Amino acid sequence: MGLMILAIAIGTVSAFAGISLIALINTMIEQHRADFGAYGWPFIGLLMGLIISGVVSQVMLSRIGHRIIYRLRLAMVNRVLGTDIESLEKAGDHRLYAVLTKDINDIGNAFSRLPIAIYNGLLLLGGIAYLGYLSLMFLGITLGVVVLGIIVDHFVSTKMYALYKQVRNTEDRLYKQYEAAIEGRNELRLDAARRGHLFHSLLEPAAKICQETKARADIYWAINLNWTVVLIFSLMGLIVFLGINQLNLGLEVVTGYVLALMFLRTPITSLIDMIPNVIAGSVSLKKINQLKLAQYDASWVSEAGDNDLLEFKSLQLRHLAYAYPVQDETDKKDDYTFALKPINLTISAGEILFVIGGNGSGKSTFSKVLTGLYPSTSGQVFINQQLLEAGNQAWYRSHFVTVLSDFYLFDHMLTEQNPLANDQRANHYLERLQIAQKVQVKNGMLSTTDLSQGQRKRLALLAVYLSPRPIVLLDEWAADQDPVFRRVFYHEILPELKAQGKTVIAITHDDKYFDCADRILRFDAGEMRPVESNALSASRPQPDIALTL
Ligand SMILES: Nc1ncnc2c1ncn2[C@@H]1O[C@H](COP(=O)(O)OP(=O)(O)OP(=O)(O)O)[C@@H](O)[C@H]1O
Ligand SMILES: [Mg+2]
Repeated sequence: MGLMILAIAIGTVSAFAGISLIALINTMIEQHRADFGAYGWPFIGLLMGLIISGVVSQVMLSRIGHRIIYRLRLAMVNRVLGTDIESLEKAGDHRLYAVLTKDINDIGNAFSRLPIAIYNGLLLLGGIAYLGYLSLMFLGITLGVVVLGIIVDHFVSTKMYALYKQVRNTEDRLYKQYEAAIEGRNELRLDAARRGHLFHSLLEPAAKICQETKARADIYWAINLNWTVVLIFSLMGLIVFLGINQLNLGLEVVTGYVLALMFLRTPITSLIDMIPNVIAGSVSLKKINQLKLAQYDASWVSEAGDNDLLEFKSLQLRHLAYAYPVQDETDKKDDYTFALKPINLTISAGEILFVIGGNGSGKSTFSKVLTGLYPSTSGQVFINQQLLEAGNQAWYRSHFVTVLSDFYLFDHMLTEQNPLANDQRANHYLERLQIAQKVQVKNGMLSTTDLSQGQRKRLALLAVYLSPRPIVLLDEWAADQDPVFRRVFYHEILPELKAQGKTVIAITHDDKYFDCADRILRFDAGEMRPVESNALSASRPQPDIALTL
């Protein structure tokens, strides 16, 4: 703020120097005298003042502009990090990418031009003051014309705003296609029809709408810019005709006026020039607000919840229920919105719990509610008899280490105590996971993550090994493992984790290994029921013939 005030103050000096130069030239013309002794040095002095204060204030102001973009970038990622998972999933990746790239840039552009706008505004104010000094009546006429300009400008800007909004909404569709082009690269490479559909039916029309709508918006902008130039020249003409013919004003007033108006043309057109940027910025700002991201919170990123992990004893769910938020406000009675029916369950430390059930029965949804990623719609959760509530969510979440179905593999191996995991320990577990010959950990960094899906899952499990957190939640971890390692997982790794004191909740379809669990919960259309152990052995299928052969 202090820097801003200083920059504006120096900008004012620069504006003053500029106007003074005009006044000086005007005086020389008026007196028809330009002897260097009297006017030369003040002229050179003002020039020096103009360049020094102009450069200094503009450098300072543009620095403020870049700082705004810097802060905006950090603030937006902070807000995304703080936003609840449900809202992020509802927004969709493409919208979030659009916000983090396009909207931040647009808002940044608008803000980074703001300092120059302030500078130009100062010049304009200085110029108007000088006009008033020359002739109050002319100042009145000028202000009248300015009001006319502002009315037209407002009308044009409103039109432009509507068009820019349309462009921005279409850009969300564009980003969706960008995402499809990158994420769906394999399918698109193999399938010409799909490629053609994406390109010609989805991408091209959206891009075309953007192009045409922006071009239409630019017509308004061009009209506005040239209309303003016409206004300035009309004003000059009016003043010359009126001043010389009707009012018989002195040459110095008329020339001074014309000179000052010429001088003010640059800041005025520069202000109008930035209108599209300001409009794009405000459309982007609105777009960001629509996403309903969390407010900026500096403490979010480093919020610690692990100080009190000492001893996990039990996790208790009482009538815990969850329903996905309705997709659309107008669609409130959506019968297809999936819901988990109230769950009553107590999980004790050191248990191995399997969660089973058909596709879409709610297992993964349950895993997200249990870990606190989704807020429950009703019911209560207690950890060591302490109720999960608004104030202790981070602490609650910090009990879990997960490999979810949509896991992301970070190439830094972090542990909570150490910024970087101990290489030796990590490499030991890589041996255990039988991928030590493919990947190593050096300075806490994985040597590669370009691996097969099964190998990537093993690396995700490495993070579980390295974590001190007491509850391990794995969503179909073994689904991509070969039969040999699948057996290692159920018969060796799970018991090892248990021996280390971990509580394991594993979502699985591997009925062959159901007997590795201490307890089994089955989901069926969102309803959870514990499975009796005798019911399980009766329903267990015969051994896989292909494997036993
Ligand atoms: N992000 C979401 N928004 C709204 N509904 C969802 C979302 N994700 C899943 N659902 C709904 O929740 C239901 C249960 O999905 P869930 O992923 O929990 O099943 P699952 O038991 O893990 O199945 P699978 O064995 O295929 O992994 C789905 O049928 C779907 O309708
Ligand atoms: Mg699932």
